[in-house]
Amino acid sequence: MSCSLRPVGRAQRAALERLTRATGRFREAEVATAVELLDASLTSDDDYRFVGAYDGDDLVGYACWGPTPGTEGTWDLYWIVVDAAKQGRGIGTQLVGEVERRLAAHGARLIVVETSSRADYAPTRAFYETRGYTRAAAIPAYYAPDDDLVIYLKDLTNGVMARAAP
Ligand SMILES: CC(C)(COP(=O)(O)OP(=O)(O)OC[C@H]1O[C@@H](n2cnc3c(N)ncnc32)[C@H](O)[C@@H]1OP(=O)(O)O)[C@@H](O)C(=O)NCCC(=O)NCCS
Repeated sequence: MSCSLRPVGRAQRAALERLTRATGRFREAEVATAVELLDASLTSDDDYRFVGAYDGDDLVGYACWGPTPGTEGTWDLYWIVVDAAKQGRGIGTQLVGEVERRLAAHGARLIVVETSSRADYAPTRAFYETRGYTRAAAIPAYYAPDDDLVIYLKDLTNGVMARAAP
């Protein structure tokens, strides 16, 4: 399924909240954060950028990313969400490809993704791994006693600029 990729505006605020909640993956506080980041992006806050995937006029997915403060050329992919009824049809791949294309055009070096070790996130981790994201670190019990933070990296420079200093 190929969607059109367009900006996410105020008109999509309720749909974004609904989509995010409907995945069943996020705590209520996290759903609220996604909406707050959209609001921030709409007040020309360059720290948060959004792209939406649309089926006609309907928002069916989105990605949110931004520059990682205090770094040179490192960017966080903060959110990627696809409508629960439309997952597994290539929309997430389209969104992540678009984010990577935009970042590469800006000379970005690294993309960092934070996710969860929970069993229900196994398909999400597989999604990143098959799209060239490498598991770089984990922080045990970060989100909750049985819920580790897992950090994935994608090097946009094919190792040229992303090597660790000797
Ligand atoms: C993770 C997510 C964005 C992927 O988007 P998607 O449109 O379902 O992904 P695609 O169709 O482009 O790619 C499918 C691949 O993703 C993985 N995947 C993740 N969730 C999946 C799902 N619910 N259904 C099918 N495949 C899924 C599979 O490994 C599949 O691999 P394959 O291409 O080798 O078959 C989407 O499933 C989602 O919104 N999940 C819930 C929210 C979430 O976990 N977001 C990330 C937070 S860190």
